[in-house]
Amino acid sequence: MVILQEGQVYKIITDKTQKSMTFYITYVDRLKDEVFVKVFSPFSLYEGFRISTIENKTLKEIIDFEKIKNFYFENIPFSIKNKIGKLLYQKENHPICIVKNKINDFFEKYDKFEFQNPMVSVRNNFDNLLIPQNHPGRKESDTFYSENKFLVLRTHTTAHQTELLKKKITKFIVTGDVYRRDTIDASHFPVFHQVEGVNVLGSVSDKVVIEHLKDTLSGLIKHLFGNDVKYRFIDEYFPFTNPSFEVVVEYHGIEMEVLGSGVIHKDIMKNCGLEGQNGWAFGMGLERLAMIFFDIPDIRYFWSEDPRCLSQFKAGEFTKFQPYSKYPSAIRDISMWITEGFEDNYFFDLVRDLSENLVEEVSLTDSFTNPKTNRSSKTFRIKFRSIDKTLTGEEIDKILNEIKQELINKDYEIR
Ligand code: DAH
Repeated sequence: MVILQEGQVYKIITDKTQKSMTFYITYVDRLKDEVFVKVFSPFSLYEGFRISTIENKTLKEIIDFEKIKNFYFENIPFSIKNKIGKLLYQKENHPICIVKNKINDFFEKYDKFEFQNPMVSVRNNFDNLLIPQNHPGRKESDTFYSENKFLVLRTHTTAHQTELLKKKITKFIVTGDVYRRDTIDASHFPVFHQVEGVNVLGSVSDKVVIEHLKDTLSGLIKHLFGNDVKYRFIDEYFPFTNPSFEVVVEYHGIEMEVLGSGVIHKDIMKNCGLEGQNGWAFGMGLERLAMIFFDIPDIRYFWSEDPRCLSQFKAGEFTKFQPYSKYPSAIRDISMWITEGFEDNYFFDLVRDLSENLVEEVSLTDSFTNPKTNRSSKTFRIKFRSIDKTLTGEEIDKILNEIKQELINKDYEIR
């Protein structure tokens, strides 16, 4: 089945002439089954054009990753762009895919979706999920927006929830890559993977839904961690569920949050044409699970193309990862005067972009405002360490100088 996505490029074959036409969708009104499209063809560029019941026509989805990277998201850091379309979750011998399959096995009877295109509308990623305008997740320092600001690289797989519910698909699992500007350390990377699960149970009470949700998630946790796992549900808040819960699992004596969940907000059900029905949803990240199950010490290994890393994993097997070596680290500090609007995440992006993942961690070590001049300064500590080679002092200083130069270009003064 083809699920029409805003921002997605499609090829349509017209019934009569069998001619094909390529277009991209600006807006889908799923309740009326109408889509508004922009057409790319050698002869014309129609805009705001409306096609009704398009799904009965022969439709082929084409994901033009180059267009996504170099047209819609031309503005985002290169280090992020080059992850788009890598589809780690579909590479059968990759740890992310192995964990995905393990989860999918548990949800045997659920419809499975994998939308390879991570570009979604702001509406689907935020508005339709009742995420308020002032929510921090909407900030440009957290989310990658397209140049026209209508599209984002999905920040969670929940972005697909309402479009599926509107199509009356009510029991499903969605897996995909998600994107967030973030800190740099062993467990954070601006591209990671999530699974979203939804189950609409019918016209039942919240109590019934909560019980079903807790039973299902308890089963999932045991399926993943074994029957003796210690876990608990804690109350949480998410704009799109009410009530909401988090599941915390104790692993080697340390508690960690593994998923968010709850009863789907009544307004979402109503907006999706499911008034009176009740159901649950959950969302879970895959990297953290994979790091535990495979003993992977640094999140950068998931993106490694080194055969010494890739060859260690086989579909269906949970083997322990053997780091080929731990290479030495080197520390460098950068202090600078910042100006209004500076966000730490921009600095992290810049470091990632210029260091090509040779940085293991960045931390803010000092921050102060000079009371006389009212100028603010920040000092970041950068820990360089490659996961697959020893870095030379020259290599490190070259990167450091590039980072400094880029800051100077952006009008920040290095101290
Ligand atoms: N989308 C949330 C996140 O990215 C996770 C989540 C929480 C998904 C609660 C859900 C949910 O479906 O009900 O952190």
